[in-house]
Amino acid sequence: MPDFKGLDLTGKTAIVTGASRGIGTAIAVQLGQRGANVVVNYTSSSSRQRAEDVVKRIEAAGSRAVICQASVANMSDIPKIVDTALQLSQTGKIDILIHNAALGVDANLDEVTEELFQSHFDTNVKGPIFLTQAIVPHIARGGRIVFLSSAAARLGVAGQTIYGATKAANESCARVWAKELGQSHGITVNCVNPGPVATDQWQESDEQFRQDMQPLIESTPAAARIAEVDDVAPLVAFLCTDDARWTTGSVLCANGGLYN
Ligand SMILES: NC(=O)c1ccc[n+]([C@@H]2O[C@H](COP(=O)([O-])OP(=O)(O)OC[C@H]3O[C@@H](n4cnc5c(N)ncnc54)[C@H](OP(=O)(O)O)[C@@H]3O)[C@@H](O)[C@H]2O)c1
Repeated sequence: MPDFKGLDLTGKTAIVTGASRGIGTAIAVQLGQRGANVVVNYTSSSSRQRAEDVVKRIEAAGSRAVICQASVANMSDIPKIVDTALQLSQTGKIDILIHNAALGVDANLDEVTEELFQSHFDTNVKGPIFLTQAIVPHIARGGRIVFLSSAAARLGVAGQTIYGATKAANESCARVWAKELGQSHGITVNCVNPGPVATDQWQESDEQFRQDMQPLIESTPAAARIAEVDDVAPLVAFLCTDDARWTTGSVLCANGGLYN
């Protein structure tokens, strides 16, 4: 009989930021299906029903889940996310932290405003840094942190001065934390870097931007199509398993080979 124990997440406690939609929902459900109990974080009141539906899907898979409305960009919301996870945990520890919530509004250099800079760095960089700082004292040895970076961190996509910079910052944090949290805490820290994925963030991006990306999408080595959320979520779930214990500080290709 096959033995997949090294991929099992039974009894682990996971936080997925921005789990009400898109890639975050797919990751939360994947983790739940592998046995983890999941905090389904979101920020907009209009997403509450969607977050509750994610909880139901996880519960249907036999795991526990709870919604948590909190903005990672808001320092005063950070303790709420930590406390929700500790209440959900059956061990008093948190095992998995997925930094998925992000803003991704495109703007050419001449359109960049301080407000765009601030909102993106607050959500995509400041939030993950301070949420991680708050969670680390509660993470069990064998803990896992995964960032949703983007091919944009290194590809150099026109219109992504700010977004690309925030994702490059995530990749830098992963490399630094792999060292700071490795031997001392037994935590691995990695990134995955999707290219275009069919989610709200993609649909809401500028029409011209999507047209400009079409030739790139068609050149994707794995297949000439945009990614679906389930092309990315299993890789994130794998990084959370015991079998992935020797992978840390890395950026794993989650873009069909567009960029590595
Ligand atoms: N889609 C792509 O083509 C693509 C490509 C490469 C990388 N990525 C990365 O993959 C991740 C997920 O992208 P996606 O396309 O699935 O995003 P999405 O569809 O736009 O969903 C964003 C999620 O983040 C949440 N969120 C936004 N701001 C937040 C905040 N301050 N605090 C907590 N949650 C917040 C949203 O919550 P509400 O529902 O409450 O608003 C929502 O659940 C992001 O890190 C993104 O940069 C995406």
